[in-house]
Amino acid sequence: MVRDKNIVLGVTGSIAVYKAVEVASKLTQEGAKVDVVMTKAAQEFVTPLTFRAITNRPVATEMFDPVSEFSIEHVTLAARADLVVIAPATANVIAKLAGGIADDMLGCTVLATKAPIIVAPAMDANMYQNQITQQNIARLKERGFTFVGPGYGRLATGEIGLGRLADIEEILGTIRQVLGRRGDLAKRRIVVSAGGTQEPMDPVRHISNRSSGKMGYAIAEAARDRGASVVLVSGPTALHPPVGVEVIQVQTAVQMRDAIVDAAKQADALLMAAAVSDYRPAAAAKSKIKKERETLSIELVRNPDILSEVRGDFVRVGFAAESENVVENAKVKLKGKNLDLIVANDITATDSGFGVDTNRVLIVDRQGKVKRLPLLSKLEVAHKVLDRVVELLPKSRGRMKKT
Ligand code: CTP
Repeated sequence: MVRDKNIVLGVTGSIAVYKAVEVASKLTQEGAKVDVVMTKAAQEFVTPLTFRAITNRPVATEMFDPVSEFSIEHVTLAARADLVVIAPATANVIAKLAGGIADDMLGCTVLATKAPIIVAPAMDANMYQNQITQQNIARLKERGFTFVGPGYGRLATGEIGLGRLADIEEILGTIRQVLGRRGDLAKRRIVVSAGGTQEPMDPVRHISNRSSGKMGYAIAEAARDRGASVVLVSGPTALHPPVGVEVIQVQTAVQMRDAIVDAAKQADALLMAAAVSDYRPAAAAKSKIKKERETLSIELVRNPDILSEVRGDFVRVGFAAESENVVENAKVKLKGKNLDLIVANDITATDSGFGVDTNRVLIVDRQGKVKRLPLLSKLEVAHKVLDRVVELLPKSRGRMKKT
């Protein structure tokens, strides 16, 4: 997503600049060309040399600097930028941008660029909540600026409040989301399910499975990076949802079914990566089941089969975790659940399936064609699956156009 992109990183005078160093480093590692523009105040906190060493590119500090080896027209960066990110952005700089003031390199770049602009504010909580700052932010949002954060937590003054620079992962996620807006899933609504469901036995116990949710979360992230509007219906997991994705947290299969039936009404594609419990206890005990008897039987009843129940005109993708006869079982499920594609893996392999970051899958289509993929990261698998989804989407339509 960021490879070979020209990203201008505007850095302003805040103690949070150390996070900007990390953002510059991550983007550079991913292959972006990062041009850092520093305000005077930013240079009080960190020297341009730090960014220069990390990005391997000159750092712009002065608008008119004839002696510097980095002497460029003040609008050059603006013209070639694919994206401008200002992180951290102080209240002062936000005010200047809202007023169209271009008295330094950053102001000029922002005013002159046609690229999308992301602003990550960092400031004292009172400054952030001040009506003047809020009006400035509202004004910039109206003009199409994207804001990320600020977060709540310990501020430079030692107080706790709203004003912390957003986390690095949040800033990077927002960058990918904004860069992906014109991707091959732009204007498409993709519904993804992830994780295992939990079926309560009593107030403290449940029946579940070993799904970590990693495959579904990777699909949600990949779809977001390709411009989709993503709804992620997730069972309980230990994962952070990708930035910019609408998350609906559920616990049971019935809750997951209800959430998916609702979300799928507007969907262009549904990818069911969740490991849905096929059965649930017939009745969950109201109070904790005590250890009174030698044996305990719990009656289980069938849960809804979500893929079979959810109807609609969208691309349908199922996942099959199999421990034997992978292709044959996958084909049976594809037919039985009326799927366009099924992604199957052998869960007995240690490098593939539950809990790990890699997966070795095969994809079967309606025609029965089987495509085996090598061992890949779950994010790579997600992109391969989405490549196939894109081929199946009707060219002329995107649900998002209607909404
Ligand atoms: N699935 C579903 N609802 C269920 C069970 C599964 O929608 N109650 C979906 C899964 O999310 C997956 C696909 O169906 O995309 C296949 O799931 P899997 O558990 O492999 O298949 P089952 O139909 O449950 O068959 P079995 O457990 O007998 O292998």
